Amino acid sequence: MPIASTDRPFDSDDNPRRTNAAGAGSASAASGAGVEAVTRVARRVQAVPGSGIRRFFDIIASMDHVISLGVGEPDFVTPWPISEAGIRAIEQGRTHYTSNLGLFELRAAIAADLERRYGVEWDPSEEMLITTGVSEGLDLAARAIINPGDEVIVADPSYAAHAPAVTLAGGIPVAVPTRASQGFALDPKQVEAAVTPKSKALLIAYPSNPTGAVLERPTLEALAEIARRHNLLVISDEIYDRLVYGGIEHTPIASLPEMQNRTITLGGFSKSHAMTGWRVAWAAAPADLMAGMLKIHQYAMMSAPTVAQYAALEAVRAGEEYVISMREEYDRRRQLMWRGFNNLGLACAEPRGAFYAFPSVAQTGYSDEAFAEQLLLREQVAVVPGSAFGAAGAGHVRACYATSYEEIEEALERIGRFLHHAPMAK
Ligand SMILES: Cc1ncc(COP(=O)(O)O)c(C=O)c1O
Repeated sequence: MPIASTDRPFDSDDNPRRTNAAGAGSASAASGAGVEAVTRVARRVQAVPGSGIRRFFDIIASMDHVISLGVGEPDFVTPWPISEAGIRAIEQGRTHYTSNLGLFELRAAIAADLERRYGVEWDPSEEMLITTGVSEGLDLAARAIINPGDEVIVADPSYAAHAPAVTLAGGIPVAVPTRASQGFALDPKQVEAAVTPKSKALLIAYPSNPTGAVLERPTLEALAEIARRHNLLVISDEIYDRLVYGGIEHTPIASLPEMQNRTITLGGFSKSHAMTGWRVAWAAAPADLMAGMLKIHQYAMMSAPTVAQYAALEAVRAGEEYVISMREEYDRRRQLMWRGFNNLGLACAEPRGAFYAFPSVAQTGYSDEAFAEQLLLREQVAVVPGSAFGAAGAGHVRACYATSYEEIEEALERIGRFLHHAPMAK
């Protein structure tokens, strides 16, 4: 029973690889679809694998008593004052479109917040856009800058939507492997080696889903230097910027010298404010790039959900205490999970951001897919195979600690029991 996609956009060796979207439209890429579907669906869509994670969740949905460390979203509900602001917007009849860019008040509040926290100044009238989730921002960024055949450098493993966003925009994702031994941080030397005359952009996302890695400032500076030297644009998905632990400070790459003018920054409320279902986020970019993104957004989306924008406004104005208290709780769970995996013999680098641990399961004798499948079937604990996030994720699993402390304790106990049956234990 395959539980994760094996037809992923990355090759399995250590070198950066180019996946040619146009060339990948074979019958196998349509994964089981009939000949009709192969010929009717556009080649660049066929070239994108279905989400390995989604397939896995379909299996989980059919089972009872599963402890899910699989889904990457907060277990907290949206803090009440934020929800109330949404309710108030409905009561007051604020149920119409907003400006295509989003409510000016919200753009201005986000811009002021970013300036206060990171010292980067964005003009809310032409450099900020409210999007329907960072998911939309990612799509807009890719479509606004990519010409057919342009290459975009992406870390492997990385969030499942990153490489597909590039492919769907007609570009070629070039995967640069990262390693557990380097804390899954992008290695600037490898990034530089992946640059070609076709390189258009670098897509980075730290803190990282799925590894929990953050980038130290010197690494970020080296990446910025590469971007400047090779005239690359940067798409920086910073959805987890508020979730860093142990005194680390997040640095947006746009805050580094001469970087703001070549960077599209994406941020949102889904993770920091437990607002996944509201579908609201923001993008900040230099005015020319933003004008391109706005064109796509106005035709494809018109404007982000209005009620959600009012809720987001409350999140920016008064949400800080909730962000801090949720982060403190995630930190407690992070320590439990990370130490718990290591105590069980599953080597796990300390995750320093987001809410994922990414332990190695190689020593169990299972592949990551078999580990996840067997763990689910035998002990009803759901984790996601690391290879669903790229070839370099193989041999690891992603476990999300945005679930209760007690459930994580119970999950670790079950995993301990499960390991007695692992091939290596026999
Ligand atoms: C790195 C990353 N970017 C973007 C998203 C999607 O965020 P949103 O809910 O704002 O669309 C996720 C969700 O898991 C994510 O992990």
